Amino acid sequence: ESPSADTNAKLEKICHLLDQEIPYYNWTGFYFKNGDKDELVLGPYVGAPTDHTVIPFGKGICGQVAISNEAFVVPDVHEQDNYLSCSVDTKAEIVVPIIKDGENIGQIDIDSHQLNPFTDEDRELLEWLCEKVAGIL
Ligand code: SME
Repeated sequence: ESPSADTNAKLEKICHLLDQEIPYYNWTGFYFKNGDKDELVLGPYVGAPTDHTVIPFGKGICGQVAISNEAFVVPDVHEQDNYLSCSVDTKAEIVVPIIKDGENIGQIDIDSHQLNPFTDEDRELLEWLCEKVAGIL
C-alpha cells in the first residue's frame, strides 16, 4: 500500500533532514511495495530525478533487499553485477528494509558520491529509522 499524503510529507521531511545533516548522503529516498505486485515504487526522495521509479523484486540493490529482508551496504557500486545506475556520480549505496508486522513493505535507499562511506553506524541509524517509519505506516 502507498503511504497517505500526510505520511509522505513526513517521509519527505526525513529525506531532507538526512540530506542536510549527512554530507555523504547524496540521494535519499523511499521505495514501497506496489500492492500485491512483486515490485517497488518510488516514494518521497531528495536528490536528482531517477529513471528507476518502478523496480521489480530481485533487480538492482533495491530489488535484492525486497527479497532478502536484510540491509545491503555497497561500498563500491561498480563491483556489483546486479545494480541499477541512477547517476554516474554514485559510487556507493545503502538500502535498509522497512519491516512492519514481520513483512518487508519498503525500504530507504541512499546513494553516495563517495567511495565506501557507509559504516555500521549508518546501517544502525537507518535500521533504527526504518523501525520508527514502520510505526507511522
Ligand atoms: N541503485 C538502485 C536503484 C535506485 S537508485 O539508486 C535511486 C539499485 O541498484 O537498486
